[in-house]
Amino acid sequence: MNENADAARVAALRQQLREASHRYHVLDDPTIPDSEYDALLRELEALEAAHPELADPDSPTRRVGAPPSGRFEPVEHAIPMLSLGNAFSAAEVEDFVARIVKELGTAEPGPAEPVFSTEPKFDGLAISLRYEHGRFVLGATRGDGTTGENVTANLRTIKAIPLRLRGENPPAVLEVRGEVYMPLAGFEKYNAHALAHDEKPLANPRNGAAGSLRQLDPAVTARRPLAFYAYALGEVSPEVTLPPTHSQTLQWLRTLGFPVSNRVETARGASGLLDYFARIGAQRERLPFDIDGVVYKLDRYDQQRVMGFVARAPRWAIAHKFPAQEVATTVESIEVSVGRTGAVTPWVQMAPVQVGGVTVSRATLHNADQVARLDVRPGDTVIIRRAGDVIPEVVRVNLELRPHDAHGRPRHHAWRMPRHCPECDSAIEHIDGEVIARCTGGLVCPAQRKQSLLHFGSRRAMDIDGLGERFVDALVEYGYVHGIADLYRLTVEDFVAMKQRADEAAGEVPETVKAGKIATKWAENLVAAIAASRSTTLERLLFALGIREVGEATAKALARHFGALQPLLDADEAALQQVPDVGPVVATRIAHFFAEPHNRAAIAALREAGVHWPEVAPQRAQEGPLAGKTVVLTGALAALTRDEAKARLEALGAKVAGSVSKKTALVIAGSDAGSKLDKARELGIEVWDEARLLAFLADHA
Ligand code: IVH
Repeated sequence: MNENADAARVAALRQQLREASHRYHVLDDPTIPDSEYDALLRELEALEAAHPELADPDSPTRRVGAPPSGRFEPVEHAIPMLSLGNAFSAAEVEDFVARIVKELGTAEPGPAEPVFSTEPKFDGLAISLRYEHGRFVLGATRGDGTTGENVTANLRTIKAIPLRLRGENPPAVLEVRGEVYMPLAGFEKYNAHALAHDEKPLANPRNGAAGSLRQLDPAVTARRPLAFYAYALGEVSPEVTLPPTHSQTLQWLRTLGFPVSNRVETARGASGLLDYFARIGAQRERLPFDIDGVVYKLDRYDQQRVMGFVARAPRWAIAHKFPAQEVATTVESIEVSVGRTGAVTPWVQMAPVQVGGVTVSRATLHNADQVARLDVRPGDTVIIRRAGDVIPEVVRVNLELRPHDAHGRPRHHAWRMPRHCPECDSAIEHIDGEVIARCTGGLVCPAQRKQSLLHFGSRRAMDIDGLGERFVDALVEYGYVHGIADLYRLTVEDFVAMKQRADEAAGEVPETVKAGKIATKWAENLVAAIAASRSTTLERLLFALGIREVGEATAKALARHFGALQPLLDADEAALQQVPDVGPVVATRIAHFFAEPHNRAAIAALREAGVHWPEVAPQRAQEGPLAGKTVVLTGALAALTRDEAKARLEALGAKVAGSVSKKTALVIAGSDAGSKLDKARELGIEVWDEARLLAFLADHA
């Protein structure tokens, strides 16, 4: 092998790839097809692997290099990152210009109509990039303007950000500021993929950009379609002579390899600014990225210095914001969708309309209260708004256009939350006073299946070692598991086949095939772990069922109180409330869960699959001196902790509750008791002090 030739080839490849990447990501003018780029990159990777001595952290192969950092270090900005004042009307823009004309007029004679750089206001995330001797060394978010977060590793994955400055004699220090954003095409592609794979879509491109940059694993950021536009400078070392204007500086940044929007222009006077605003506004829907306004910056640096700053914003620049975009369309139907936690969200299916450059046919209604407030009905004409967010919302209904029947009655009734889940037909529970309605199908609802399975197998539930997210996803996706009881039917062969399928789908060589032999040890272990979980306790089972609000403590209390499953299944809400710590809301949740035939069937299937637990005598102190009494503890006790006092009272049959109501039989008031004591007095409830409690406990010990 010829070492020198390889070194030369590595250098040439790096140069060629940098150039191609610059043409593609910065100039938007690709010269070589993607396939050729990939081939060159692979050749470089191979050479670098063969020659570790030629390693270079800025090589085009190293865009995804650093391992997850765990957290982001704070970065103090050498020069603060400022925000901008806002203008929302032509009058405010005219005031802004008038202020400048006035002050410049007295400070320095100049043209009556100052020149401004006019720029799109990119809707992403402001960042600062620090280059030392031409190399990208530090990238930070804006943070509070003074201190940001070090997101260098993530920024390195963004191909529009040069890792090295172009040209000879780079400055000792150059900080370039600009916006990281997610182009709309990339955003839509990302979300289409996410939705097809049952992953969480991004709410809008701005959140997409911000969320992607704050990923702890740069490999995740690298898969997000992010881009960058430069629009300002930070610290610049003194040997650099900057051009006299901001717009010329942007030109210079272009020559250094930074993307600068070609929609940046210069304009004179308020009329020039407003003309730019109107033109960009008209293009907004066709732009390949989101903008939320335009920015005007006084172009000459000497004039900027005259204007100076107020608080955290320059007096020489202003953001002219677009109003939120609203359009009218008609409602085809009102639907609900079920999330992974069972939350049921209503939304409208609408005739498709263009709003803010995106075609939308769905808008969220958030929750049932919102539907009631708006009174949206099928056939209605609605105004929808997209304020930066891609998921638009319904702002109001145009009641004058509501369709009526021949008798003059509205054609549709007011909407009501459906009683049954569209995914699994289980009852939808909407507890009074709560905003969110939920599907009670937990275990059986396909929308919630993965989450409930994962919870079922978790350590404190059924404790199935090795049943992690990857397997659960594949088990559900490939239809191996519909209900939890299906787990107990899985064989070693099932797991091996499933994993092979998952690996292939991920484009990996099946890990299960090692040295021509199918490795099955892990699958045997998993099947054994599932089998072992058959022998459990009622407490674990109840927790594993994933009933909302039933955590480990409540599961334990239920298991102790009822001793066996059947009496719990038979208990009504009043009986459930006898369990220590179970209040009305939790009692309702439990009752609804067990009332659901699907859930009962799932439990029966578990039993049939051999899941068993010891049944014990109920541990209820029904005969105790406080049996059936609700006691409330308030204030601080000196001799006992809260938990001890609670346990001792419960041992004597009391139910210890957290708040005083008419049902309260007794209040124990320690020192500094406050409103609960007042309430007890108001309701005429018996009150004991600590001494009285201790005497009572001693008598009944
Ligand atoms: S200049 C001293 N130019 O708007 C001026 N900012 O509201 C500093 N932004 O944090 C900012 N496009 O995230 C500037 N062409 C542009 C911009 C822009 C978007 C964002 C930036 C900044 C925020 C201020």
